[in-house]
Amino acid sequence: MALTAALTVLALSGLAHAVPLEKGVQPHDFGQDLAPLLSGAKPAPLCFPSLGFVMPAVPPSDNTNWWCDPATEYAFVGFSYEVTACQSRAQLQKEFSDIRNHFQSRYVRLYGACDRKGFYDDIVEAAWNNELGVHALIWFGFDGDDLWIGRRDTLLAALHSNPKAKFVTRVLQFGSEPLFDNVLPHAQLAQQVLAAKKNLSSLHIPVTVSELAYGYQERGGAQDVLDAIDSINIHMLPFFSQNASTSDQAWPLVQQDLQWYIAHGNGKKMYFDENGWPSVTSEGVQPNSPDAVADIPNEQGYYTLLDQHCEDLKNVVGGGIGWFAHIYSDDQEPGYGIYNEQGKMKFPFAPRTHC
Ligand SMILES: *[C@@H]1O[C@H](CO)[C@@H](O)[C@H](O)[C@H]1NC(C)=O
Ligand SMILES: *[C@@H]1O[C@H](CO)[C@@H](O)[C@H](O)[C@H]1NC(C)=O
Repeated sequence: MALTAALTVLALSGLAHAVPLEKGVQPHDFGQDLAPLLSGAKPAPLCFPSLGFVMPAVPPSDNTNWWCDPATEYAFVGFSYEVTACQSRAQLQKEFSDIRNHFQSRYVRLYGACDRKGFYDDIVEAAWNNELGVHALIWFGFDGDDLWIGRRDTLLAALHSNPKAKFVTRVLQFGSEPLFDNVLPHAQLAQQVLAAKKNLSSLHIPVTVSELAYGYQERGGAQDVLDAIDSINIHMLPFFSQNASTSDQAWPLVQQDLQWYIAHGNGKKMYFDENGWPSVTSEGVQPNSPDAVADIPNEQGYYTLLDQHCEDLKNVVGGGIGWFAHIYSDDQEPGYGIYNEQGKMKFPFAPRTHC
């Protein structure tokens, strides 16, 4: 599990010194590929996937003037959703409907991998039917093998062949944590990002890497990767900090990683895409602080904390932080679910989507 990896080493990330907050001093920069898209972005609710957007019966002729301007998207945006179970079309439809309609989500961030033929077409269909944008994922796994190369090619091909894919795929992620897991030297990862951007340029689909601050920091900052990606998809998992205690005390831990990204991210749009606090520890989920508390009130408390800091997160350079809850169900990652394994909500969850 990504979290497994995150554990021991996040301890060290607590040692990295904080850099000064440089809110708002840098220009917005969504990457050249996105510039034409943004120049004509319509306001909510006329842009996809804003709340209240009315889906057309068929996709428009192209995806320019389709997406909402990322600089207007912040607060809770949706869920991380693990696909390793290879959910059926019917299950994807049901859960994406719940994600949109029950929780007012705008996006789903995929996690894990399903290698079933045509699986991404099922994701596209469920996303289109439920007005959700998708942060798609080239999954690297944790074994250091080369399976990701085939997954990359399959996903790139699906993005080109499925006519609806470019209307629901907001960004393509390389992940999870390829720097932290040292799957590729950072220069090669940057080259992969640039090649994928080139491959997807006619579709106007941007590319990112899903990673911990510590993943960059331990690779000398990997500025080449930060420069190559279009948006910054951040793993924010303060439970693993050496300074962790209860989630209501986690704001300085969040700020420490966020400030690093602000200092090095050149004003790009940022998401907390793997973002949460566990309700139980498990083999792969062990704290690095003796004071860290894993229980349901602290899982809930972390999201309450983000809600309380809605304005602070909105004011971050790039148009504010859009955050995902990691993860939809305990079936997908033990202890991190909003739902438990019986399909019951573990606590009331209705985070703000604007402030
Ligand atoms: C993009 O990559 C896929 C998978 O490798 C390939 O089949 C396709 O031809 C590429 N398309 C472009 C435009 O580079
Ligand atoms: C973490 O704890 C150390 C030691 O008490 C302290 O020096 C440091 O400022 C703390 N960092 C954060 C982000 O709270």
